[in-house]
Amino acid sequence: MKKYMIANIPGDGIGKEVVPAATKVLEAISDIHGGIRFDFNEFPWSCEYYVEHGKMMPEDGLEILKNYHAIFLGAVGNIQLVPDHISLWGLLIKFRREFEQVINYRPAKVLPGVKSKIVNPKDFDLIVVRENSEGEYSEVGGRIFRGEDEIAIQNSIFSRRGTERVMRFAFELADKRKKHVTSATKSNGIFHSMPFWDEVFKDVSRDYSGIETDSQHIDALAAFFVTNPERFDVIVASNLFGDVLSDLGAAIMGSVGVAPAANINVNGEYPSMFEPVHGSAPDIIGKNIANPIGQIWTAKLMLDHFGEEELGSLLLDVIEKTTNKGILTPDIGGKHTTSEVTEEIIQGLKVRS
Ligand code: NAD
Ligand code: IPM
Ligand code: MN
Repeated sequence: MKKYMIANIPGDGIGKEVVPAATKVLEAISDIHGGIRFDFNEFPWSCEYYVEHGKMMPEDGLEILKNYHAIFLGAVGNIQLVPDHISLWGLLIKFRREFEQVINYRPAKVLPGVKSKIVNPKDFDLIVVRENSEGEYSEVGGRIFRGEDEIAIQNSIFSRRGTERVMRFAFELADKRKKHVTSATKSNGIFHSMPFWDEVFKDVSRDYSGIETDSQHIDALAAFFVTNPERFDVIVASNLFGDVLSDLGAAIMGSVGVAPAANINVNGEYPSMFEPVHGSAPDIIGKNIANPIGQIWTAKLMLDHFGEEELGSLLLDVIEKTTNKGILTPDIGGKHTTSEVTEEIIQGLKVRS
């Protein structure tokens, strides 16, 4: 019996609805397929926790999490209670940084039965590999002066190590897919970082002669996502470019509510974190209409990460059967609830046992 210890952090808003839904699905997988067990421990770290304790998690929060195989997180953010820069840097970004989750892996494709807003949805099947630890999300900068003289300074940091690392990850991934890597760049801009990014991309690509490459300026690339999705297989992008591209990808998929993500610690020293692309969705809390598929597909990425690829594929297969039957939440044009979609997926798993 293989046993995985998972730290559940539902967080805020609909995180508290979709994490329990996806946890039920994982429990069903364990019940039905045997040989695998999940030990879930739930942590209430969130904006509400902050209001009570003055911090997003206890001092020894990171120490506690180190004992787990993975972190399964919903979403963080409730600006009614805590400003975003405090809640996010106190939890989500802290985990990404402290646990060296340097890769954000975000697959995007249109599920059967879900209407996409683009002309050729069948051609849209790609993975955004986002640098997850540096770039535009650096802590270097600040605000000086006041009033009309006020200046905000934000430095981007691109290290050769971090840039090479994310690119190598993208090439290795493409080698298992359609063998094509697109680099998201902006070297026609005035940034110093992007000519550097291009140079590293060229250097790394020399080690992967079997992989086709191209570079696209991020603005044109975003447009091609919509007009020519067949151009893409794996896209490697900086932290901010990858962030924006993954929400665009999610919109093409029909809703940000279906898009999965994995924050990977590549050397296995610390736990990786699995949390969907979407946020806490304050506008739909408590209505039982949050789409659970983003979180459930994220659970599939966690299974893959554990080396349980067969169960991962089975889960995606069942998700696809569910959408294809028209069992959809309102964000993707359906009338079903969070609970109904979750239950359908659980029943689908039982049928396939
Ligand atoms: P959001 O993703 O929460 O919501 C954007 C829109 O998408 C909303 O209309 C929402 O209802 C809808 N939506 C999101 N998830 C959905 C789902 N599963 N099913 C159906 N509809 C869904 O983004 P936002 O409004 O920019 O941010 C809200 C809060 O979440 C902010 O505090 C933000 O900082 C935070 N946030 C957190 C994360 C994270 O923890 N990973 C990611 C993005 C945003
Ligand atoms: C994401 C989110 C986060 C990011 C925010 C909430 C800090 O948008 O995970 O995509 O920008 O990385
Ligand atoms: Mn984002």
